[in-house]
Amino acid sequence: MQAELLREDQSRSPEERPRPDRSRSDCPVLLSQRLVLRKPHDEDIDALANLANNANIATMVSRMPHPYTAKDAADFVRRAKAGEIGKCVYAITRMENGEFMGCCGLEPQEDGKTLEMGYWLGEPYWNNGYTTEAAHALIDMAFRTRDIDQIDARCRVTNIASRRVIQKCGFQLQGSGMVGSLALGGMVPVEWYRLDRKTWVSLRSWGDTR
Ligand SMILES: CC(C)(COP(=O)(O)OP(=O)(O)OC[C@H]1O[C@@H](n2cnc3c(N)ncnc32)[C@H](O)[C@@H]1OP(=O)(O)O)[C@@H](O)C(=O)NCCC(=O)NCCS
Repeated sequence: MQAELLREDQSRSPEERPRPDRSRSDCPVLLSQRLVLRKPHDEDIDALANLANNANIATMVSRMPHPYTAKDAADFVRRAKAGEIGKCVYAITRMENGEFMGCCGLEPQEDGKTLEMGYWLGEPYWNNGYTTEAAHALIDMAFRTRDIDQIDARCRVTNIASRRVIQKCGFQLQGSGMVGSLALGGMVPVEWYRLDRKTWVSLRSWGDTR
């Protein structure tokens, strides 16, 4: 229902859209051409444990343990369901068969005006445009329903695929810094990107960034 509302909303001009709700914190199911983004649930645990137990993923994100066990997966799903992770956490699933492929999410920053986007996808599914498609759906939902000014994204300087996703979403480079990596047990250099509301409005339907 909410997803249908979000789809309908895409046909309106920015001026006609309902004003974003300052107090909104729910995470509606999101539909895109090939994907359903929804809350993680217990049936995802096996696929999650299997796909996330991959150093090529863990070393590129900040807080994923490695090795990644079935207990880690069950704990993640429990915390996501209980809202304990403190952000909008989505399972990225394939619309045609419901297959679990990875996760993405938005985390509010301290200023109350910024969300940080994160994502990972199981290696068998890489390079099909799925993460870019999921990110577009997340970003649209965030700017349409939240009173935010911008969305940030960070990737390791060595992460070519993630940088490409970020660029395909219209984010602009802000600078560089260091971020902790649980899997590597230390700090790693990252690039910091930002997509502000004005740029998102000008991008509209993503036609130029795919
Ligand atoms: C980053 C990640 C989520 C990308 O997922 P994905 O679904 O493969 O992404 P997409 O298919 O939407 O886009 C990937 C882009 O990177 C490009 N790419 C990937 N590897 C590349 C390489 N070695 N050199 C050049 N381009 C590369 C792809 O060609 C594609 O660009 P294109 O559509 O212009 O051809 C996935 O690789 C992943 O989970 N990596 C590990 C975890 C991670 O890095 N998470 C992000 C932390 S910031």
